[in-house]
Amino acid sequence: MELYKQYPLRLHINRQERRFEVESWVTLLDLLRERAGLTGTKKGCDHGQCGACTVLVDGRRINACLTLAVMQDGREITTVEGLAEGEALHPLQEAFIEHDAFQCGYCTPGQLCSALGLMQEGQARTRDDVRELMSGNLCRCGAYPQIADAVCEVLGIEQQRGEAERRQDRGPFTTGGVLA
Ligand code: FES
Ligand code: FES
Repeated sequence: MELYKQYPLRLHINRQERRFEVESWVTLLDLLRERAGLTGTKKGCDHGQCGACTVLVDGRRINACLTLAVMQDGREITTVEGLAEGEALHPLQEAFIEHDAFQCGYCTPGQLCSALGLMQEGQARTRDDVRELMSGNLCRCGAYPQIADAVCEVLGIEQQRGEAERRQDRGPFTTGGVLA
């Protein structure tokens, strides 16, 4: 006998249809990591505070830890594994590599998905916009200036670091500005 009721769930994950039977309390994050085998999406806080779990749902970025999988039935989910086209990296991935926009890499899948969502929203006009609109994605390693460099390059925004960022560049590079 089934211990807990399971619900049928159909998702399009990275352009592939996937079907699951899932309990009502399973988050989209746990479904992706533990049932779909897509561990690129990271669990940081599991409380909507760090952005490590950012994915796109029907093109809009969300924290996968804050939504139940059953609520996303029929939706198109994009995770970091879906950004590249075969061997060809997404321009954001190329830019993150070129600009050294990660150290440990734990926040990077969320940063990339968030940046893609940001691009699609079309609201970032300046570097400050990028930093503000990416502020839901924390980086414990403090790679914020490099992340902004990478995203700005792909968006075609002029690269100008402000004084605060330049100070951060000269500081220790082992703790993030927010979580330190
Ligand atoms: S793990 Fe979802 S916001 Fe931190
Ligand atoms: S690169 Fe380590 S947390 Fe961002």
